[in-house]
Amino acid sequence: MNNLGILLSGRGSNFEAIADNVAAGKLDANIAVVISNRADAGGIESARRRGLKALVVPSKGKPREQHDREVVAALREHQVDLVCLAGYMRLLSPWFVQQFPNRILNIHPALLPAFPGLEAQKQAVDYGVKVSGCTVHFVDTDLDHGAILVQKVVPVLDSDDEHALAARILEQEHIAYSEAIRMVLEGRFTVEGRRVVMKPGA
Ligand code: GRF
Repeated sequence: MNNLGILLSGRGSNFEAIADNVAAGKLDANIAVVISNRADAGGIESARRRGLKALVVPSKGKPREQHDREVVAALREHQVDLVCLAGYMRLLSPWFVQQFPNRILNIHPALLPAFPGLEAQKQAVDYGVKVSGCTVHFVDTDLDHGAILVQKVVPVLDSDDEHALAARILEQEHIAYSEAIRMVLEGRFTVEGRRVVMKPGA
């Protein structure tokens, strides 16, 4: 089964890129549910327009694990096999992570382990690196930390500010996320410690 559950908090362009690839038959998957912790997330509106199941599970004022239990219940109800965090601005509790071992992905707009956390593109510009990019990784209990599936490199131009860099990284994010989902759904890898290793012939 290739049922995806997408968690997001904002505009949802990574979700839309995944949905476009599914709709075009480029990704053999089904978006079973899109869940946001924020009612005003653009991604939720977009999911509804596409006729997908879209839920708001508000997080405000709730203890983390209670919110996580509600989200996991919704994922289970929709028989989700693979959870994709796509601009989901929440740390998952260890309990949530344990519910889907090696079955939760995240995308981060930098080449991890450089520049974890918020404003990764601004961090990269301010630091003066010459290349940055994006990373799709498994989620573990530490922030932006799990084993890496896919990275794409993006040059940092002298003329870049954080917005220009973010826009060019985002184009690569939209490619990288579907590649990583495909790898996981096809099971073409093993995880050896921190390393995701492709199976021979893959
Ligand atoms: C992306 O830059 C992603 O890497 C980060 O949050 C942003 C989400 O953008 N985790 P969008 O909502 O998918 O457009």
